[in-house]
Amino acid sequence: MPKKSGKGKEKKMKRKEEAAKVAVAMAAVTKANQIEKPMESLVAFSSFNRNGVNVSVECLRSTAMSAEDKDWAYTLTRDNMKDTYVSCGWGWNDHDKRDEIFDERAWFIIARSAEDNAPLGLVNFRFDIDEQVEVLYVYEIQLERSVRRKGLGRFMMQLTQLIAAKASMAKVVATVFKENMASMKFFLQVLKFDYDDTSPCVCDPGNGEDYAHEIVSKRLRPVQAAVAVVPAASAAAVA
Ligand SMILES: CC(C)(COP(=O)(O)OP(=O)(O)OC[C@H]1O[C@@H](n2cnc3c(N)ncnc32)[C@H](O)[C@@H]1OP(=O)(O)O)[C@@H](O)C(=O)NCCC(=O)NCCS
Repeated sequence: MPKKSGKGKEKKMKRKEEAAKVAVAMAAVTKANQIEKPMESLVAFSSFNRNGVNVSVECLRSTAMSAEDKDWAYTLTRDNMKDTYVSCGWGWNDHDKRDEIFDERAWFIIARSAEDNAPLGLVNFRFDIDEQVEVLYVYEIQLERSVRRKGLGRFMMQLTQLIAAKASMAKVVATVFKENMASMKFFLQVLKFDYDDTSPCVCDPGNGEDYAHEIVSKRLRPVQAAVAVVPAASAAAVA
Protein backbone atom coordinates (compact mmCIF):
# COMPACT_ATOMS: atom_id res chain seq x y z
CA MET A 1 0.00 0.00 0.00
CA PRO A 2 1.56 3.35 -0.99
CA LYS A 3 2.61 5.71 1.75
CA LYS A 4 0.13 8.55 2.25
CA SER A 5 1.52 11.92 1.22
CA GLY A 6 1.84 14.78 3.71
CA LYS A 7 -0.64 16.74 1.61
CA GLY A 8 -3.33 14.08 2.12
CA LYS A 9 -2.83 14.27 5.86
CA GLU A 10 -3.03 18.06 5.78
CA LYS A 11 -6.29 17.90 3.82
CA LYS A 12 -7.75 15.40 6.26
CA MET A 13 -6.71 17.60 9.18
CA LYS A 14 -8.28 20.64 7.53
CA ARG A 15 -11.52 18.75 6.98
CA LYS A 16 -11.54 17.71 10.63
CA GLU A 17 -10.90 21.26 11.76
CA GLU A 18 -13.73 22.53 9.55
CA ALA A 19 -16.11 19.89 10.87
CA ALA A 20 -15.14 20.83 14.42
CA LYS A 21 -15.70 24.51 13.66
CA VAL A 22 -19.18 23.80 12.27
CA ALA A 23 -20.00 21.68 15.33
CA VAL A 24 -19.00 24.54 17.64
CA ALA A 25 -21.03 27.01 15.55
CA MET A 26 -24.04 24.71 15.43
CA ALA A 27 -24.00 24.24 19.19
CA ALA A 28 -23.93 28.03 19.66
CA VAL A 29 -26.82 28.56 17.23
CA THR A 30 -28.92 25.81 18.83
CA LYS A 31 -28.33 27.36 22.24
CA ALA A 32 -29.18 30.85 20.97
CA ASN A 33 -32.46 29.60 19.51
CA GLN A 34 -33.44 28.18 22.88
CA ILE A 35 -33.23 31.57 24.59
CA GLU A 36 -36.59 32.38 26.14
CA LYS A 37 -36.17 36.13 26.63
CA PRO A 38 -33.45 37.62 24.41
CA MET A 39 -33.99 41.08 25.95
CA GLU A 40 -33.63 39.95 29.53
CA SER A 41 -31.04 42.24 31.19
CA LEU A 42 -31.42 44.67 28.26
CA VAL A 43 -34.35 46.57 29.82
CA ALA A 44 -32.81 49.93 28.88
CA PHE A 45 -33.67 48.98 25.30
CA SER A 46 -37.33 48.19 25.92
CA SER A 47 -38.32 51.76 25.12
CA PHE A 48 -37.15 54.65 22.96
CA ASN A 49 -38.40 58.19 23.42
CA ARG A 50 -36.47 60.71 21.34
CA ASN A 51 -37.04 63.20 18.55
CA GLY A 52 -40.82 62.87 18.84
CA VAL A 53 -40.77 59.06 18.55
CA ASN A 54 -42.07 57.27 21.64
CA VAL A 55 -42.09 53.48 21.30
CA SER A 56 -41.84 50.27 23.27
CA VAL A 57 -39.56 47.57 21.93
CA GLU A 58 -39.94 43.79 22.16
CA CYS A 59 -38.14 40.76 20.73
CA LEU A 60 -40.07 37.62 19.88
CA ARG A 61 -40.05 34.56 17.68
CA SER A 62 -41.90 34.83 14.35
CA THR A 63 -44.02 31.90 15.51
CA ALA A 64 -45.27 33.98 18.46
CA MET A 65 -46.50 36.87 16.29
CA SER A 66 -50.16 37.64 15.79
CA ALA A 67 -51.65 37.38 12.29
CA GLU A 68 -52.20 41.16 12.38
CA ASP A 69 -48.56 41.87 13.17
CA LYS A 70 -47.46 39.45 10.45
CA ASP A 71 -49.62 41.27 7.89
CA TRP A 72 -48.15 44.60 8.96
CA ALA A 73 -44.55 43.28 8.87
CA TYR A 74 -45.00 41.77 5.43
CA THR A 75 -46.74 44.83 3.98
CA LEU A 76 -44.10 47.22 5.34
CA THR A 77 -41.27 45.07 3.97
CA ARG A 78 -42.94 44.82 0.56
CA ASP A 79 -43.76 48.53 0.38
CA ASN A 80 -40.19 49.49 1.35
CA MET A 81 -38.29 46.94 -0.70
CA LYS A 82 -40.21 45.56 -3.68
CA ASP A 83 -39.12 48.26 -6.14
CA THR A 84 -35.46 47.81 -5.20
CA TYR A 85 -35.64 44.02 -5.53
CA VAL A 86 -37.18 44.41 -8.97
CA SER A 87 -34.80 47.11 -10.21
CA CYS A 88 -31.81 45.10 -8.95
CA GLY A 89 -32.91 42.10 -10.95
CA TRP A 90 -33.57 39.87 -7.94
CA GLY A 91 -37.32 40.01 -8.60
CA TRP A 92 -40.03 39.87 -5.96
CA ASN A 93 -42.14 36.88 -4.99
CA ASP A 94 -44.78 37.44 -2.31
CA HIS A 95 -44.92 33.81 -1.29
CA ASP A 96 -41.13 33.37 -1.02
CA LYS A 97 -40.69 36.59 0.93
CA ARG A 98 -43.39 35.63 3.41
CA ASP A 99 -41.82 32.20 3.84
CA GLU A 100 -38.43 33.81 4.42
CA ILE A 101 -39.36 36.39 7.02
CA PHE A 102 -41.78 34.14 8.91
CA ASP A 103 -39.57 31.05 8.82
CA GLU A 104 -39.91 29.21 12.12
CA ARG A 105 -36.26 30.05 12.94
CA ALA A 106 -36.84 33.77 12.45
CA TRP A 107 -36.99 36.35 15.22
CA PHE A 108 -38.43 39.84 15.20
CA ILE A 109 -37.65 42.98 17.14
CA ILE A 110 -40.75 45.19 16.94
CA ALA A 111 -41.07 48.84 17.96
CA ARG A 112 -44.63 49.92 18.83
CA SER A 113 -46.13 53.32 19.42
CA ALA A 114 -46.43 54.05 23.15
CA GLU A 115 -49.64 55.89 22.30
CA ASP A 116 -51.72 53.30 20.46
CA ASN A 117 -49.48 50.21 20.29
CA ALA A 118 -49.31 50.40 16.49
CA PRO A 119 -46.17 48.67 15.14
CA LEU A 120 -43.76 51.17 13.55
CA GLY A 121 -40.49 49.35 12.93
CA LEU A 122 -38.95 45.90 12.79
CA VAL A 123 -35.73 43.95 12.64
CA ASN A 124 -36.09 40.43 11.23
CA PHE A 125 -33.16 38.17 12.09
CA ARG A 126 -31.98 34.63 12.59
CA PHE A 127 -29.25 32.99 14.58
CA ASP A 128 -27.52 30.99 11.90
CA ILE A 129 -24.31 29.46 10.60
CA ASP A 130 -22.67 31.47 7.87
CA GLU A 131 -19.40 30.20 6.38
CA GLN A 132 -18.90 27.89 9.38
CA VAL A 133 -19.35 30.72 11.86
CA GLU A 134 -22.21 31.39 14.30
CA VAL A 135 -23.83 34.70 13.36
CA LEU A 136 -26.90 36.82 13.88
CA TYR A 137 -28.07 37.45 10.32
CA VAL A 138 -30.24 40.54 9.83
CA TYR A 139 -32.72 39.72 7.07
CA GLU A 140 -34.62 42.99 7.33
CA ILE A 141 -34.62 46.30 9.11
CA GLN A 142 -37.74 48.21 8.12
CA LEU A 143 -39.21 51.38 9.55
CA GLU A 144 -42.41 53.24 8.72
CA ARG A 145 -41.55 56.45 6.88
CA SER A 146 -42.99 58.59 9.70
CA VAL A 147 -40.33 57.41 12.18
CA ARG A 148 -37.23 57.45 9.98
CA ARG A 149 -34.20 59.68 10.55
CA LYS A 150 -35.02 60.00 14.26
CA GLY A 151 -32.46 57.58 15.61
CA LEU A 152 -34.81 54.58 15.94
CA GLY A 153 -33.05 52.45 13.31
CA ARG A 154 -29.69 52.97 14.97
CA PHE A 155 -31.23 52.15 18.37
CA MET A 156 -32.81 48.93 17.06
CA MET A 157 -29.53 47.85 15.50
CA GLN A 158 -27.67 48.56 18.74
CA LEU A 159 -30.15 46.30 20.48
CA THR A 160 -29.69 43.67 17.75
CA GLN A 161 -25.93 43.70 18.30
CA LEU A 162 -26.38 43.32 22.05
CA ILE A 163 -28.74 40.38 21.57
CA ALA A 164 -26.15 38.79 19.28
CA ALA A 165 -23.34 39.35 21.79
CA LYS A 166 -25.42 37.98 24.65
CA ALA A 167 -26.16 34.89 22.58
CA SER A 168 -22.40 34.44 21.95
CA MET A 169 -22.62 35.00 18.21
CA ALA A 170 -19.31 35.85 16.54
CA LYS A 171 -20.73 38.55 14.29
CA VAL A 172 -23.77 40.36 12.97
CA VAL A 173 -24.25 40.10 9.20
CA ALA A 174 -26.58 41.80 6.70
CA THR A 175 -27.06 41.89 2.95
CA VAL A 176 -27.47 45.38 1.50
CA PHE A 177 -28.38 46.44 -2.02
CA LYS A 178 -25.73 48.72 -3.48
CA GLU A 179 -28.38 51.03 -4.92
CA ASN A 180 -29.88 51.55 -1.45
CA MET A 181 -27.45 54.34 -0.63
CA ALA A 182 -29.18 55.24 2.64
CA SER A 183 -28.83 51.70 3.89
CA MET A 184 -25.18 51.40 2.75
CA LYS A 185 -24.36 54.59 4.62
CA PHE A 186 -26.39 53.47 7.64
CA PHE A 187 -24.50 50.18 7.98
CA LEU A 188 -21.00 51.19 6.92
CA GLN A 189 -20.62 54.73 8.21
CA VAL A 190 -23.10 54.99 11.05
CA LEU A 191 -23.06 51.47 12.54
CA LYS A 192 -19.39 50.91 11.55
CA PHE A 193 -19.99 47.58 9.83
CA ASP A 194 -17.31 46.43 7.36
CA TYR A 195 -17.59 44.60 4.09
CA ASP A 196 -17.67 40.92 5.01
CA ASP A 197 -15.05 38.53 3.60
CA THR A 198 -17.91 36.91 1.66
CA SER A 199 -19.04 40.20 0.11
CA PRO A 200 -18.66 40.42 -3.69
CA CYS A 201 -16.42 43.49 -3.41
CA VAL A 202 -14.00 41.43 -1.27
CA CYS A 203 -14.18 37.95 -2.77
CA ASP A 204 -14.80 38.89 -6.41
CA PRO A 205 -13.47 42.44 -6.71
CA GLY A 206 -12.99 42.43 -10.48
CA ASN A 207 -16.65 41.71 -11.22
CA GLY A 208 -18.53 44.29 -9.18
CA GLU A 209 -21.03 44.98 -11.94
CA ASP A 210 -22.27 41.37 -11.72
CA TYR A 211 -23.64 41.95 -8.23
CA ALA A 212 -26.48 44.15 -6.95
CA HIS A 213 -25.58 43.60 -3.30
CA GLU A 214 -22.80 43.64 -0.76
CA ILE A 215 -22.58 41.72 2.51
CA VAL A 216 -21.66 43.74 5.56
CA SER A 217 -20.78 42.52 9.02
CA LYS A 218 -19.57 43.53 12.43
CA ARG A 219 -17.38 41.18 14.40
CA LEU A 220 -18.36 40.83 18.04
CA ARG A 221 -15.53 38.59 19.16
CA PRO A 222 -12.87 36.35 17.63
CA VAL A 223 -14.21 33.17 16.02
CA GLN A 224 -14.11 30.22 18.45
CA ALA A 225 -11.03 28.04 18.20
CA ALA A 226 -12.22 24.85 16.53
CA VAL A 227 -9.38 22.87 18.10
CA ALA A 228 -11.41 22.93 21.31
CA VAL A 229 -13.47 19.99 20.05
CA VAL A 230 -10.84 18.26 17.92
CA PRO A 231 -9.79 14.99 19.59
CA ALA A 232 -6.59 15.43 21.62
CA ALA A 233 -4.42 13.38 19.24
CA SER A 234 -5.39 15.50 16.23
CA ALA A 235 -5.04 18.73 18.18
CA ALA A 236 -1.51 17.77 19.14
CA ALA A 237 -0.76 17.00 15.51
CA VAL A 238 -1.88 20.52 14.52
CA ALA A 239 0.58 22.04 16.94
C1 LIG B 1 -32.42 52.49 6.66
C2 LIG B 1 -33.21 52.67 7.95
C3 LIG B 1 -33.34 51.32 8.65
C4 LIG B 1 -32.44 53.64 8.86
O1 LIG B 1 -33.14 53.81 10.08
P1 LIG B 1 -33.44 55.32 10.60
O2 LIG B 1 -34.09 55.22 11.92
O3 LIG B 1 -34.15 56.05 9.55
O4 LIG B 1 -31.96 55.87 10.75
P2 LIG B 1 -31.37 56.73 11.95
O5 LIG B 1 -32.27 57.87 12.27
O6 LIG B 1 -31.01 55.82 13.05
O7 LIG B 1 -30.12 57.28 11.18
C5 LIG B 1 -28.82 57.24 11.65
C6 LIG B 1 -27.96 57.83 10.56
O8 LIG B 1 -27.96 56.97 9.41
C7 LIG B 1 -27.84 57.79 8.23
N1 LIG B 1 -29.07 57.68 7.43
C8 LIG B 1 -30.20 57.03 7.76
N2 LIG B 1 -31.12 57.15 6.78
C9 LIG B 1 -30.55 57.90 5.82
C10 LIG B 1 -31.00 58.37 4.56
N3 LIG B 1 -32.22 58.11 4.09
N4 LIG B 1 -30.14 59.11 3.83
C11 LIG B 1 -28.90 59.39 4.25
N5 LIG B 1 -28.41 58.98 5.46
C12 LIG B 1 -29.23 58.24 6.21
C13 LIG B 1 -27.66 59.22 8.71
O9 LIG B 1 -26.27 59.43 8.90
C14 LIG B 1 -28.38 59.17 10.04
O10 LIG B 1 -27.96 60.19 10.93
P3 LIG B 1 -28.63 61.67 10.80
O11 LIG B 1 -30.11 61.49 10.64
O12 LIG B 1 -28.23 62.31 12.11
O13 LIG B 1 -27.98 62.29 9.60
C15 LIG B 1 -34.64 53.24 7.70
O14 LIG B 1 -34.52 54.49 7.12
C16 LIG B 1 -35.53 52.39 6.84
O15 LIG B 1 -36.28 51.57 7.35
N6 LIG B 1 -35.47 52.56 5.49
C17 LIG B 1 -36.33 51.85 4.56
C18 LIG B 1 -36.05 50.37 4.49
C19 LIG B 1 -34.60 50.04 4.21
O16 LIG B 1 -34.00 50.52 3.27
N7 LIG B 1 -34.07 49.13 5.02
C20 LIG B 1 -32.70 48.66 4.91
C21 LIG B 1 -32.65 47.38 4.17
S1 LIG B 1 -31.01 46.68 4.23
